[in-house]
Amino acid sequence: MIEKLQKLKEEALESLGKVKDLNSFREIEVKYLGRKGDLTNILRGVSELGDEEKRNVGKMANDIKMELFSKFEEVRNALEKKGNKDRFVDVTLPGKKIQKGHLHPNTIVQNELEYLFTSLGFMVFDGPELESDYYNFEALNIPKYHPARDMQDTFYIDKKNADSEYDLVMRTHTSSMQVRTMHKYGAPLRAMIAGRCFRNEATDVRHEHTFYQMEGFMIDKDINLSHLKGILETVAKHLYGPETKVRMRPKFYPFVEPGTNGEVTCFLCHGAGCRLCKYSGWLEIFGCGMIHPNVLRAGGIDPKEYSGYAFGFGLSRVVQLKYGIEDVRLFQSGDLRFLEQF
Ligand code: DAH
Repeated sequence: MIEKLQKLKEEALESLGKVKDLNSFREIEVKYLGRKGDLTNILRGVSELGDEEKRNVGKMANDIKMELFSKFEEVRNALEKKGNKDRFVDVTLPGKKIQKGHLHPNTIVQNELEYLFTSLGFMVFDGPELESDYYNFEALNIPKYHPARDMQDTFYIDKKNADSEYDLVMRTHTSSMQVRTMHKYGAPLRAMIAGRCFRNEATDVRHEHTFYQMEGFMIDKDINLSHLKGILETVAKHLYGPETKVRMRPKFYPFVEPGTNGEVTCFLCHGAGCRLCKYSGWLEIFGCGMIHPNVLRAGGIDPKEYSGYAFGFGLSRVVQLKYGIEDVRLFQSGDLRFLEQF
């Protein structure tokens, strides 16, 4: 056994002398000193020896073990020092740039407009995207099976999921929040809602199944069309500059009476006519009108006492015009080449 131990010590020291890097060091460390290594194997045999022998061999084995451990330690330290020197860090080099995110163009314009509307005393809401058929259609004077429903086709969700008698739909417009807010706050009321809407569209550069709208309305005593024109002008000037003019032409929407269309002078040609405005000088932006008495009634407000205006517009479309974005589908594409331009 003593011979075995001597031999092991010589071999181990010889191998240690040849070690060049930490990897080969670890290999021989495991081989000689590891839990299943050669030294451990020999030491296990010591317990089977007679008393006298055990004392002699045991002491010697222990000495060898200590010697090997300290030699191995020395070599490891030396190798580690050398390794660290190779890994010299230049602290004066500039750091790695961290990629910072930024706001989506839709959000930029939405924030701007929300700021404008709060400054005019409007409350700002968002509201559910999965909406009751009641708030999206019925309460807005669009009964079931009425042809007015054809204007906005959307995605219906199985009624069994809801605890109400109405189907659930992906909201087709932010107008769905009109009666919700009337129920909650009553009159007088000034509210503004921006958010995501959905329609069953065959998509192309101007149509997308998912898009953003903005809605505003005001209910009080003696509110009339001139108030509506006033707010449209404020929004249009904010979006397209102080020279912008607004005109209104009759248009049917089931939830307003009278219903109108809000058009603004084309910001590109200032009314002279160009490709953007299809040579008319005007851009169609708003749907608007005086809130229909049936809608006020649905909201629990007496139309004999109160009147109100409402308007809505495609936020996505406004953003498209503002930045000259040709394809609305880019908004949802997640394409960084598009997003990084803002
Ligand atoms: N909700 C309409 C749409 O999506 C837009 C609209 C029209 C909103 C007239 C209004 C309104 O508030 O009075 O097409």
